[in-house]
Amino acid sequence: MIKAFLFDLDGVIVDTAIYHYQAWRQMANDLGFDITEEFNEKLKGISRMESLDIILQHGHLQLSEERKNELATRKNENYLQLVSKMTPADILPGVTDFFTQLKKNNIKTALGSVSKNAGLILERIGMLNDFDAIIDGNKIAKGKPDPEVFLKGAEELEVSPAECLVFEDAVAGVEAAKAGGMKAVGIGKKEVLTKADLVFENLVGVDIRVLIDDLNR
Ligand code: BG6
Ligand code: MG
Repeated sequence: MIKAFLFDLDGVIVDTAIYHYQAWRQMANDLGFDITEEFNEKLKGISRMESLDIILQHGHLQLSEERKNELATRKNENYLQLVSKMTPADILPGVTDFFTQLKKNNIKTALGSVSKNAGLILERIGMLNDFDAIIDGNKIAKGKPDPEVFLKGAEELEVSPAECLVFEDAVAGVEAAKAGGMKAVGIGKKEVLTKADLVFENLVGVDIRVLIDDLNR
């Protein structure tokens, strides 16, 4: 029986994935190499410092911890500048209606994001009060695909993992949900999110009663 819905932020609630990509690409270009949109799939759901390591490896660069911290700080400053102009109009299609249905059906909600900027983004888009629990990058030690972020969400909502349904756009995020013993709905492409129980392009027109029935079947 599903009692709680756990949502990733970037790429599920709001399309910040594009801004992460732009900011990392800018950094890579400054360092003399490029990253593609396809490569960026590997970075979705991955923490800031781990993403940096993956990118530097791709560019065949080995840098000191100090230099890496500098680069991560600069990337984050650029990212914050890109997201500073976000408004409620940036909420992804179908999300607002979906949350209205959740409230009507008394389903608990948690945010499960590895981003340290999650609170700030929720504030910008006016959704800070829409979650019963918020687990972000400041509250966890291990990023996705480790299940920590979702297990903490379940704990705060006082439900068991088997009672949770996770919404994810990232391969690492679907893996995290599965590792935590939860069902997962992928937001994106079926060919990419192969381990998800169901995949939707977005939340437009998704009826939560039909969805829960489908998953229980
Ligand atoms: C995830 C994004 O939600 O947050 C990743 O999918 C990002 O791309 C990660 O690296 C960490 O975000 P932040 O805001 O703490 O740098
Ligand atoms: Mg995401």
